[in-house]
Amino acid sequence: MAKYIPEPFRIKAVERIRLLSREERTERIKEAHYNLFNLKSEDIYIDLLTDSGTNAMSSEQWAGIMNGDEAYAGSKSFQSLLEVCHDIFRYRHFQPVHQGRAAEKVLFPLLLGEGKYAIANTFFDTTRAHVELAGAKALDAVVPEAKEPNLDAPFKGNMDTEKLLCLIEEYRRKIGLIVMTVTNNSAGGQPVSMANLRAVSKIAKEHGIPFCLDAARFSENAYFIKEREADYENKSLKEIVREMFSYADMFTMSAKKDALLNIGGLIGIKDDEELYRKVATRTISYEGFLSYGGLAGRDLEAMRIGLLEALDPAYLRFRIGQVRYLLERLEEAGIPCQKPSGGHGVFVDAKGLLPHIPYHQFPGHALAVELYIEAGIRSCEIGSFLLGRDPETGEQLEAEFEFTRLAIPRRVYTQTHLDYVADALAEIKKRRETIKGYEIVWEPPVLRHFQAKLNAL
Ligand code: F0G
Repeated sequence: MAKYIPEPFRIKAVERIRLLSREERTERIKEAHYNLFNLKSEDIYIDLLTDSGTNAMSSEQWAGIMNGDEAYAGSKSFQSLLEVCHDIFRYRHFQPVHQGRAAEKVLFPLLLGEGKYAIANTFFDTTRAHVELAGAKALDAVVPEAKEPNLDAPFKGNMDTEKLLCLIEEYRRKIGLIVMTVTNNSAGGQPVSMANLRAVSKIAKEHGIPFCLDAARFSENAYFIKEREADYENKSLKEIVREMFSYADMFTMSAKKDALLNIGGLIGIKDDEELYRKVATRTISYEGFLSYGGLAGRDLEAMRIGLLEALDPAYLRFRIGQVRYLLERLEEAGIPCQKPSGGHGVFVDAKGLLPHIPYHQFPGHALAVELYIEAGIRSCEIGSFLLGRDPETGEQLEAEFEFTRLAIPRRVYTQTHLDYVADALAEIKKRRETIKGYEIVWEPPVLRHFQAKLNAL
């Protein structure tokens, strides 16, 4: 088994966590209508719900916060952020916004509308929702190997270029946007190769379709390219990031992930002046003036520093190593997972672990509830519960995967926390036949998994 790579930092501030008794946990999850989003964080021992906004900031970021320039317009913090963004991404325009979905809300309606289509390797749920809110349809075209958790392939996040070409042939001029999610969250945090980015960029150009990166986990993706793709071993992470972004025309970014923030987002426009002007106008309406975009000056400072720290090879080696360690511990215990290990978490193959629970009874969710009851660990379903219903027929869709995602917050947990998680899952495996599925008793029309109420069957 790979050795655990020691944390390349030491701990300066700590936050107390406590473990409720099994009886209390059973009661709390029932009161939460079996929806893990309804739990209070104080009732959770280890929180692997998401890696989004849950990062521990560095002492440099906290120091930077004191230097935030809170001017309404022309803030110095905005200028410094722009300098770092220009240097890393090499685009002409950058617009901070308050988080990833705000970037989607500002940008997507400018490219999509009624009757249009957008194609991605795999859309994340909010991204899909913003395509649909803009009136368009979202189509996924991930490579087939992504759908086989046991198959070990280096770039399972890739776009299936043949499928992409077929979709372009089928819908022709109706396609308003191609999106590449790096890393591919819903497929298990699996990376996209440089070769695939290059190929998709070429197809997009040939057909005159704008190409957008959904770049929340851009530095983790760059690390995988360095580690797994020929000819990139000796390139710096910054060089790899520059090349990745050179293939797209624009990006949306949730800065709550790789940029090591607790809140923030970013839009980048490579060189389309007209599009940038429209982005600027919509930002002012929805997010605030251009030099703060829904954030405080101090957040911009933390983002600037976080973007630089995200490219530190020692940090990424530890980060990716930590996720790999948890995957290997689970494999040792015979728990099926999406392989190889992805960037931001381990995706347990709940369909494989609980084959007796059909997709419409949400095996990934059933396992997530069980993990809370077993050990006070909060995780999150990425499967049919998250995917939702066909917007036209209202029928429950069947997801390509039924995952229970163990998302690892950045710089927060240690090896012993991860060992505790692996041991809890090994315990659950022993009584897996007894675990039951769930039914939804109430749900809102969009992004239902955040609010839905469920009942155990
Ligand atoms: N794109 C991707 C690939 C994401 O993973 C997320 C958020 C977003 C966009 C939206 O960003 O939350 O800042 O508005 N993913 C979180 C998750 C919520 O848990 O995976 P946001």
